[in-house]
Amino acid sequence: MTKTLAKSLGLVAVVAIAGSLTLAPASFAAGGEQPHIEHQRWPFSGIFGQYDSAQLQRGFRVYKEVCSACHGLKRVAFRSLSEPGGPQFSEDSVKALAAEWPNQITDGPNDEGEMFDRAPRPSDPILGPYKNDKAARAAQNGALPPDLSLITRARNTHNDAWFPVHFYLMAKDVFTGYQEGGANYLYALLTGYHEPPEGFTVNEGMNYNAAFPGHQIAMPNVLDGGPVDYSDGQEGYNGPASSLEQNAKDVSAFLSWAADPTLNTRKQIGWQVMLYLLITTILLYAGKRRIWAKFH
Ligand code: HEC
Repeated sequence: MTKTLAKSLGLVAVVAIAGSLTLAPASFAAGGEQPHIEHQRWPFSGIFGQYDSAQLQRGFRVYKEVCSACHGLKRVAFRSLSEPGGPQFSEDSVKALAAEWPNQITDGPNDEGEMFDRAPRPSDPILGPYKNDKAARAAQNGALPPDLSLITRARNTHNDAWFPVHFYLMAKDVFTGYQEGGANYLYALLTGYHEPPEGFTVNEGMNYNAAFPGHQIAMPNVLDGGPVDYSDGQEGYNGPASSLEQNAKDVSAFLSWAADPTLNTRKQIGWQVMLYLLITTILLYAGKRRIWAKFH
C-alpha cells in the first residue's frame, strides 16, 4: 500500500518537474519583455466584491462620449443597461438612449424586399460606427479597434515573478477570487500614454504606450485631460471629480460588467450555497453520530 502511494507520489513529482521544464522556455520565449501592470482596487475585487452601479453609470458615459466613436459593444443590448447588477439606468432613459444612438440597425427585408436602417430599440445591440472590420480598418489607418464587449476577458496582466513562484501566485488568485486582470490591463492601457524613452522610435501614426505589448499602439490618448465631466448636466452631483485616471477607472469597471454581467448574482448565490452546504454538513454529521451511537 505505502509502496504504491510512494510510487504515485513519485510519478506526480516527475510529471510536475517535466511540466515546468517544458513550460518554462515557452513562457520565457513567448513573453519577451512583458510590461509590468499594477493591480488596482476595484469595488468588485475579491470574493465579496460587487459592482458599484454609480461607477458603472459613469463608465457608460465615458464609453458613450469617447470610446463609441470607434468601438462597438455588440454583445451588450441596450436593455441590459437597466438590469439589476449593472448600471441600472431607468427603463425610460434606456429607451430614449437607444432611440438617439447614432449607429443605426440594419433591418428587413421590408415588403419591397429591401434592407433598411432604423433607430435601435432596447432589445438591439449597442453597435459601433463601422459596418464591418474592413470599414473600420479603412477608417483607422489599417488598425482595427476591437469590439469592447469581452475585452476585459480577452486581456489579462502578466506576472513577472520568477517562474516557480507562479504556482504560488496562481493558488493565491484562486483563494482571493482574483479576476480583475482585464480591468487592471485596461486601466494601465488608458493611463499608459507617455513620452517614449530615449532611443525608442515610434512609427508614424502610432503612439507610445507603456502597457501595450510592444509599446506602439494605433489608438491615440483618447482620455487626455479626463474629457468626461461627470457633473455636466447632473444637478447635485457629488461623486468623484473627472480626471484622466477617474475616467479610465470608471470605463474599465463598466467594461468589466459588460464582459461579466452576472458577477453580482453569482457571488451572492455562491455564498448562499456555501452556507447551505455548511448547515447540511453539520446536520449530516450530527445524524451520523446519533445513528452509529448504538453500535458501539
Ligand atoms: C479614435 C478612435 C478610438 C477611440 C475614440 C478609442 N479607441 Fe480604442 N482603439 C482604437 C484603435 C485604432 C485600436 C487598435 C490599436 C492597435 O491595434 O494598435 C484600439 C484598441 C483598443 C483596445 C485594444 C488594446 C489591445 O490590447 O489590443 C482597447 C482595450 C481599447 N482600444 C479601448 C478603448 C477605450 C476604453 C476607449 C474609450 C475610453 C477607446 N478605446 C477609444 C481606436 C480608438
